[in-house]
Amino acid sequence: MQNPEPELLFKSVEREQVLALRHQVLRPHEPREACRFDTDDVPGCRHFAAFLDDRLVAIATIFPESLEAMGEVSSVRLRGMACVPALQGQGIGSRLLGFALAEARRGGYGIFWCNARLSALSFYQNQGFEAFGETFHLAGIGPHKIMVNDLRKPEPS
Ligand SMILES: CC(C)(COP(=O)(O)OP(=O)(O)OC[C@H]1O[C@@H](n2cnc3c(N)ncnc32)[C@H](O)[C@@H]1OP(=O)(O)O)[C@@H](O)C(=O)NCCC(=O)NCCS
Repeated sequence: MQNPEPELLFKSVEREQVLALRHQVLRPHEPREACRFDTDDVPGCRHFAAFLDDRLVAIATIFPESLEAMGEVSSVRLRGMACVPALQGQGIGSRLLGFALAEARRGGYGIFWCNARLSALSFYQNQGFEAFGETFHLAGIGPHKIMVNDLRKPEPS
C-alpha cells in the first residue's frame, strides 16, 4: 500500500509558535528576540501557520493597521510571511496567504496590505496584490514596496 499524500493544514497559532521560523527565514542575522514584533501586541493581531504532517512549515501574521492613502477603509496589515527554505516555491506560501486573505475578508476588512521585499513582489502579485507608491529601504532588510489587495473587489474565480 502506498503512503497517503502529506496533508497541509492551515490554522491560527500563538505568537510563540511563529518565532523560530521568523528567525530562521526573515531575521537570521539578528537575535531571536528581534522576531517579537511590536505589532504582535496590536489588539486583533492573529498568527496563522501551515502544517505539513504536523510540522509547522509556513507562517503569516495580520493585525489592524490603516494605510493612510486608502482613507477610512478598515484595513489589515500582513507581516512575517515566511516558508521553510526547503519547501519554498511549492505553493505553500500562496495557500497560507489565501487563508489569511479569507480570514481578513471574514473579519470585515476592506484593505489587506504589506511592506513587501522586492524579491517577493511576484508572490504577492500572483495573489491579486498591486504595488503602491515608491520603493523604500528598511534598514538591514533591503528594498521594499507597499503591496495592496483590495478585499472589496470581487474575488477572482
Ligand atoms: C515569499 C515566500 C513566503 C513565498 O512562499 P512560497 O511557498 O515559497 O511561495 P509559493 O510557492 O506559494 O509561490 C511562489 C511564487 O512566489 C515567488 N517567490 C518569491 N520569493 C520566492 C522564493 N524565495 N522562493 C520561491 N518563490 C518565491 C515566485 O515568483 C513564485 O511565483 P511563480 O510560481 O509564479 O514563479 C517564501 O518564498 C519565503 O519565505 N521567502 C523568504 C522570505 C520572504 O521573502 N518573505 C516575504 C517577505 S515580504
